[in-house]
Amino acid sequence: MSAGRECAAGEAARRRTFAVISHPDAGKSTLTEALALHARAINEAGAVHGKAGRRGVASDWMEMEKARGISVTSAVLQFAHRGCILNLLDTPGHADFSEDTYRVLAAVDCAIMLVDAAKGLEEQTRKLFDVCRHRGVPVITFVNKWDRPGRDALELMDEIQREFSLRPTPVTWPVGPAGYLRGLVDVRDPGHMLRFTRALRGAHEAAEERIRADRAAAEEGGDWDVATEEIELLEADGAVHDQKGFLTGTTTPVFFGAALSNIGVRLLLDAVVDLAPPPGARELAGGGTRPVDAPFAGLVFKVQANMDPAHRDRIAFMRVCSGVFERGMTVTRAASGKPFATKYAHSVFGQDRSMADIAYPGDIIGLVNAAALRVGDTLYAERPAAFPPMPTFSPEHFAVARPADIGRTKQFRRGIAQLGEEGVVQVLVSDVRGEQAPVLAAVGPMQFEVVAHRMAGEFACPVLLEPLAYRLARATDAAGGEALNRSRLVRGEALTRLNDKTVLALFPDVWQANSFERAHPDARLAPLIAAH
Ligand code: G4P
Repeated sequence: MSAGRECAAGEAARRRTFAVISHPDAGKSTLTEALALHARAINEAGAVHGKAGRRGVASDWMEMEKARGISVTSAVLQFAHRGCILNLLDTPGHADFSEDTYRVLAAVDCAIMLVDAAKGLEEQTRKLFDVCRHRGVPVITFVNKWDRPGRDALELMDEIQREFSLRPTPVTWPVGPAGYLRGLVDVRDPGHMLRFTRALRGAHEAAEERIRADRAAAEEGGDWDVATEEIELLEADGAVHDQKGFLTGTTTPVFFGAALSNIGVRLLLDAVVDLAPPPGARELAGGGTRPVDAPFAGLVFKVQANMDPAHRDRIAFMRVCSGVFERGMTVTRAASGKPFATKYAHSVFGQDRSMADIAYPGDIIGLVNAAALRVGDTLYAERPAAFPPMPTFSPEHFAVARPADIGRTKQFRRGIAQLGEEGVVQVLVSDVRGEQAPVLAAVGPMQFEVVAHRMAGEFACPVLLEPLAYRLARATDAAGGEALNRSRLVRGEALTRLNDKTVLALFPDVWQANSFERAHPDARLAPLIAAH
């Protein structure tokens, strides 16, 4: 094996590339910060910054760009822990929730599903989980905020099993109900309890004391007894960690804690190192796989345009999938066969852009001035490779677009087509509105804001966006589209074309979509990814 190949394989083996999936306010920023604190954030200064003046992870890039007039990138945090390099990719939530949030999951090997102890599974978590399941991304569960009153632990396990058909296999278990956390039991070490001394956020790591079972029983009484009984019950029920089940998406190892006080965070971090898979061979579009020690190949999973007209650069976020990436190397864009120079490659930690000279499988690189690159693009060196195209995710927001100035129809068409091609928004052509008034479809409304900004700024064509009342889309192919044409769409439904191959029927709610599907089985409608 050549030195380069050996190096790529060795470095890949010690990488863990993951994301946190959660509903807003479950504690993603707090957990990210706690993870960074426990591990060693490689690029510490200014790497995390955030909400309400405290440290946290910046994901509201648009706000910040507006405020600062510069490009903000907070795509990934990199930590070192126990000899591994951990890449934590941001999944923008809140107002930033968009198709990019889903696309990030195409670039990770594992996800941490963060569950609020009081709220259980919530809407955004469900959507993101659907994408993980579809893409075969294994999921580790962290039940957060156990320091606050919440649900019963067994009841939460039951909810995960019932709603996601995913078997929870607790690795840690709480002593004391939510709001009265006495400690944690690592079920692999049942003769002991871990007791924590709370640490204030950001201050230091929570001190951890390992107490023997007899002492825990004497000091914690009923809480210890309940915890041990529950652990026995789970064990008897076969709810024990199963690495194969986890990697194939049938089970999820579960951890409990309180990110705010750094409780349970070290055990979670250890799980990322011990259980999460390292980067592996990746499927290619034409069949076969690209092993990590093959020559360089990378996948562009997100392209972010700077909203400031004075700095109209574009950053393409690329995950290195195989080989060694070296800044300055000339790579080939698979879609066009044209060379792409990587002189301006950056690592994208926190808000800093620092030049990235070298990156290995699992690492994320930001390519600046990447106007030629599109979401889903493959870049490669030496041996050609093309990864499968990025899937189309289920849109939930729809708006019809028109040029504000009717005299600029040409610029309008060109701009909308380009934004569609870049994956900024999905551009649908409705059978009644026609091409003059395309229907824009998005996962989050922020995508429309981006369209409005860029149409006005880059294409000198301000647009009028009129929201439509549809809430979901179901897809079929051209043949199913023919059947749809013959069917009778009722008020509140619409028939649109995404491209030559995909026809989308739009509905105002799930109920109407389901009843339409039952009435027209020949249309063979199916949910897109992350659909309801
Ligand atoms: P997000 O990124 O998922 O939206 O959540 P974020 O970390 O901002 O946390 C949301 C709220 O939940 C914050 O409170 C945060 O302090 C709190 N929180 C997170 N983890 C824990 C935990 O383990 N225990 C408890 N008790 N609270 C937790 P906030 O009042 O909205 O914000 P802040 O004023 O504390 O910044």
